[in-house]
Amino acid sequence: MAEIHRLDVTAAVGAPEATPAELLAVGVWKGKGAAFPAEASGLDGRAGGRLAEAIAAHDFEGEANGTLFVTMPAGSPWKRILLVGLGPRNEATLETVRQAAGTAARAAQEAGVRRGASLLLGDVPPEAGYGEWVEAQAEAAVLSTYQFLDFRTKDTDKIKRLESWTLIETDKSRANGLVKAVERGRTIARGTNTTRWLGGLPGNHATPSFLAAQARGIAEANGFGCTVMEPKALEEMGMGALLSVARGSEEPCRFIVLEAKVSESAPWVAFVGKGITFDSGGISIKPAANMWDMKYDMCGAGAVLGLFSCLKAVAPKVNVVGAIPTTENLPGGRATKPGDIVTSYSGKTIEILNTDAEGRLVLADALTYVARTYKPAAIVDLATLTGACVIALGHYAAGLMSNDEALASRLEAAGRRSGEKVWRLPLWDDYKEHLKSSFADIKNITDASAGAGTITAACFLSEFVEGRPWAHLDIAGTAWWEKDRPYTPKGPSGFGVRLLADLLTHWEG
Ligand code: BES
Ligand code: MN
Ligand code: ZN
Repeated sequence: MAEIHRLDVTAAVGAPEATPAELLAVGVWKGKGAAFPAEASGLDGRAGGRLAEAIAAHDFEGEANGTLFVTMPAGSPWKRILLVGLGPRNEATLETVRQAAGTAARAAQEAGVRRGASLLLGDVPPEAGYGEWVEAQAEAAVLSTYQFLDFRTKDTDKIKRLESWTLIETDKSRANGLVKAVERGRTIARGTNTTRWLGGLPGNHATPSFLAAQARGIAEANGFGCTVMEPKALEEMGMGALLSVARGSEEPCRFIVLEAKVSESAPWVAFVGKGITFDSGGISIKPAANMWDMKYDMCGAGAVLGLFSCLKAVAPKVNVVGAIPTTENLPGGRATKPGDIVTSYSGKTIEILNTDAEGRLVLADALTYVARTYKPAAIVDLATLTGACVIALGHYAAGLMSNDEALASRLEAAGRRSGEKVWRLPLWDDYKEHLKSSFADIKNITDASAGAGTITAACFLSEFVEGRPWAHLDIAGTAWWEKDRPYTPKGPSGFGVRLLADLLTHWEG
């Protein structure tokens, strides 16, 4: 695996002065003249009142994610103190703290800081425990400072990198669980950065066989099972839907299965990730403008790989299987044509009326495979499946569709805790009508008059899950965004890793 910048986050307990650094970040509640947390008012005394002075001079009010750098006098353990706004104290949530922590680490990095520290920001919010509060801050620091530098060869000496970040707990009685929480946050955030890295790699680098090699590497490093099926085996198995998408490309497809087993008796939970390493649309080719961003059409697959890379830190009580159908979607001479009919792994025949609706085809075979092979207690698939989902929900929430109330609720709760939001859309039978084919069991698109492209895509998938509890996450909008956010730099977001990590954390066998 190429180098992914990975900030080293650690923990320290005791007086802040015991952790000298280039910069110390301190949280500030919103209020008149900004309200210091107790430990910072002591700091200001020792800084000759410079903090209060700067706050007054710059009208800094502790607005959420606001920042103010204050230069410290000679002899101070820190060259600068970075004040970071937390917003009103009575409104603070875990997400407020996560964002502020991300803002602080990112601002430090952009200011050229290499070794920074932060007092734990604000206080444990009402909805979370101490561990989650600490974890969110470690996580956000690693997430916010992520950079994709693989293809930069010019001016590499000018790249600014935060290398270490120490979270300081001043209250010794609260130190219990500090180190564990920091480690967990760091590891899961690194898993998320792995997903981002895979999502950022262009199609000529992140090929299906490349993803398979990554999966093998993750399996080897963690002692997981890994099976990679190649076209010949897939033909023998009858994976006609996946193979129909792969036909238009010279690059061979793969079906990757990762297994993390905790015990014989534990139930299986399955995660399936769409792995289209480039989606040109196939014969139903896409317009040239912005076609390049279809290199991120493997972000579902990337989320599954990122999750497995940090799964040990999540320590699930269930067996976890990850399945990745991966191929390019290109319009080669042997490509599938509109009107072609193929037989899926389930045995159902599919009329392919639009080769650009390829994600549902590769997922269909993978869903049936995990349903039959593992009889999982739950299946969750992640896919950059429809442009319609970006229209419906934009970039702040993934579309959630499910045939199972309990599973949908679990995912909604995980979304609230992790900050990776999901929003449920219905899967009523009314929509399924539109998938009836004149010539085969089902067709892969609906007439435009049906509307609801995100829902009808999910309806198609629901035909292949063999009645298992299943949820579909359409991450077309959340997997990538050209806008910086407090702990999510623009580009691939790594969406799904933290959501699924949280889902598994709260899954009691
Ligand atoms: N990968 C695309 C969906 C997509 C579009 C993701 C834009 C992110 C941004 C998917 O394979 C696709 O092409 N879907 C079609 C479906 C249609 C042909 C029914 C779409 O959304 O237009
Ligand atoms: Mn497509
Ligand atoms: Zn696609």
